[in-house]
Amino acid sequence: MRPGLKPDTTLDRLALRLNLAPVVAGHALFGMPMSRATVAGQRLGVFARLARRPAGPEELAAELDCAPAGMLMLLESLAALGHLDRHRGTYQLSKAARPWLDPASGQYVGTYIEHTHDYWAWWERLEDVVRTGRGVEIHDFPPDDPSWETYIRGQFELARISSPEVAKALQLPTKPTSLLDVAGGHGWYSAELCRRHPGLRATVLDLPGSTAVGRRIMEEQGMSGQVAHVDGDMTSADLGGPHDGALVFNIVHHLRPEQNLALLRRIHAALEPGGTVAVLDLWLTPEDRRPEAAALLGLFFYLTSSAATYAEADVRGWLAEAGFDKPRRITIRRLPGQAVFEARKPR
Ligand SMILES: C[S@@+](CC[C@H](N)C(=O)[O-])C[C@H]1O[C@@H](n2cnc3c(N)ncnc32)[C@H](O)[C@@H]1O
Repeated sequence: MRPGLKPDTTLDRLALRLNLAPVVAGHALFGMPMSRATVAGQRLGVFARLARRPAGPEELAAELDCAPAGMLMLLESLAALGHLDRHRGTYQLSKAARPWLDPASGQYVGTYIEHTHDYWAWWERLEDVVRTGRGVEIHDFPPDDPSWETYIRGQFELARISSPEVAKALQLPTKPTSLLDVAGGHGWYSAELCRRHPGLRATVLDLPGSTAVGRRIMEEQGMSGQVAHVDGDMTSADLGGPHDGALVFNIVHHLRPEQNLALLRRIHAALEPGGTVAVLDLWLTPEDRRPEAAALLGLFFYLTSSAATYAEADVRGWLAEAGFDKPRRITIRRLPGQAVFEARKPR
């Protein structure tokens, strides 16, 4: 929803249709406050405080150590974006926002929102990245960079939303015992699969900054007995095995095409005959149905990793070249635009 950009009257609508208003200037102007107000609502603790009970701007400003006028401006912007409802001078989380912004909710994504604050410094470099062709390379950050904590916890929050649906849809061989989760970060997709398949144990291979956070999350969730984290670079590490299944989730968009093919070949070698590989991502659909989000995310992946959003035809091609059978495409309802390609290593 983009209330700030919505035409208010029939005249506004007409002006937009006739291209009398510079929509392009609106994009340049409104993109920033939409993001920044949302992130500030999270970082200043406004959302968490309002999740407990409604409050007016003065009360909130005093509790959160802010200027009353500044708080009022922020609250009005958050209400305009639909995150808050205003009622007789007090504000509360809107019904639509509550599942995502109330820390007590199982669908909370506040840490993910908090992590997007780091993105500002990356976007600042966009012109340089486009000129030089060299991305920010966020995964080269040192393991003790505090960004890892919010990054991986944020990804965990997103994974919680779709993991039951994903785990239910995947078809691992019967009575699986070994799962490899390549660049699995938090390990939550593996945890969900281990819960569905008693006897299954998972190994999450990831960079040290990520595994440190992932291990803590698995301990907190009581899953460290089933899900083990191993430090390593997926482009070169020994993948162990033979495994019954391998997950490649939200990672091909951080790699170049030849790296994805090489990775899938190594995964093929590390699977049992009949083993399953599952590749989850947001895919570009054919040219005429290309969603706006996929193009903008492609730019984000180029910025962060010198990579891209790939087409469904790309993943089908890599899987075939790596030696897998024809893949099954699984649409994930809780992740709009995303799909899993699941394929078997021939027996
Ligand atoms: C977007 S997160 C996805 C995490 C998880 N698979 C999911 O779907 O929620 C990307 C993950 O890839 C990991 N990663 C990036 N480059 C890597 C590399 N060269 N070797 C291993 N892991 C890597 C990151 O540390 C991070 O955990």
